[in-house]
Amino acid sequence: MKTPQDISENRRLLTKFLAMSPLLGFSGLSFRDNSTTPQDPVITKASQALNVFDFKKVAKSKLSTAHFGYLDTGVMDNQTLLENEQAFKRVQLKMRRLTGIKNVDTTTLLFGEKWSSPIMLCPCGSQKAFHPDGEVATARAAKSQNTLQVLSTMSTSSIEEVTNTRGTPVWFQLYPSKYWDDTVKMVNRAQKSGSKAIVLTVDSDHLDKRETYLMAARMDKNNCQSCHGKRTRANFLRNKPMIRELSQPYQLNKQLTWNFVQRLRDTTDMKIILKGIVSKEDSLIALDHGVDGIIVSNHGGRVSESGRASLDSLSEVAEAIDGRIPVMMDGGVRRGKDIFKAIAKGADLVGIGRPYLWGLSAFGQEGVEVVLKLLIAELKLAMQQTGVQSIAEINHSQLV
Ligand code: FNR
Ligand code: LAC
Repeated sequence: MKTPQDISENRRLLTKFLAMSPLLGFSGLSFRDNSTTPQDPVITKASQALNVFDFKKVAKSKLSTAHFGYLDTGVMDNQTLLENEQAFKRVQLKMRRLTGIKNVDTTTLLFGEKWSSPIMLCPCGSQKAFHPDGEVATARAAKSQNTLQVLSTMSTSSIEEVTNTRGTPVWFQLYPSKYWDDTVKMVNRAQKSGSKAIVLTVDSDHLDKRETYLMAARMDKNNCQSCHGKRTRANFLRNKPMIRELSQPYQLNKQLTWNFVQRLRDTTDMKIILKGIVSKEDSLIALDHGVDGIIVSNHGGRVSESGRASLDSLSEVAEAIDGRIPVMMDGGVRRGKDIFKAIAKGADLVGIGRPYLWGLSAFGQEGVEVVLKLLIAELKLAMQQTGVQSIAEINHSQLV
């Protein structure tokens, strides 16, 4: 008798066969549609994945409706989230022939550290909502793939545990407390763990409605209280080790100004990286405040519905910064060629959020690892096809 695994494997092979068939174009079926089909996880092992979207399908089938909704959500009509992905499709690569290029090198250097690729695992909170090992599973994958991991203030594992697992320090993303002393406590704790950089997220003060999440939570038939307990502050903090032990009950500082950046600059000699800058105006002010790097980001379309893709903001910021400090970007990266395009438009590192969370939700550590491997393999292909040997050689001239 066939087991569900056999049936799933057969279906996967059939799908793969059909996807390669030129007839498909005439049949009206489209395997280019990356939409999710929750009842039918296409893959049962991480190694079967063709691309990162395979993990999204598994994530959707495994997570509760509310948890998947939290992962997936943008704000309002999800226009910014969709634009983030679409913008990459509007940029084309200029292929080069007969280059003889074989062994491309994705090694990336930043702030004196060497990574096996320009991919950064963005700070994403609450990872135990996606897999019981949460940020620790991510750290194991980051270690095995020598990838930069940024830990969120809202993480469900402590920076000490994650650093221990990762084997080398991670960067710490800061959501400052309303109380300055507690903010300093978090910064000092990160520094003590060996962290080299504080990633200050500056876009989350006026949160638009996360309607996809709110609808998903409304649809979820689970008894959420059985895991989360009653909706009290104590229960919220229980699973958040970076904000649990502060002197005052944690409340996000929603009144950040450039004075805060200056104060932080005067307080720590760690690298300060602003995450969430999307304009040339703010980039220049950031430079004046002595920040060490910028992450061009609209938070994966999760905070405000600007309708503007992160990739489009990147061009503006990179031009204004003009190489004076590193510029990184995240938002909508789903393919290795997207990473290539972001670098060609001026990014020194390229962040992913949802794709690795899909991997984590689907298969824990291994899922994150395969997501990284797939993206790097696709990036290498783009490098070969455009005729570049190293990350440093990627530039505007390879784009159309
Ligand atoms: C995030 N992001 C985020 N950013 C941040 O600065 N602090 C945080 O705690 C979180 N938490 C978080 C949770 C989840 C579930 C997601 C999906 C995202 C935003 C994240 O760092 C990054 O900017 C985006 O995820 C990048 O866009 P993509 O790759 O998801 O399209
Ligand atoms: C989010 C917060 C944690 O995007 O930054 O869900």
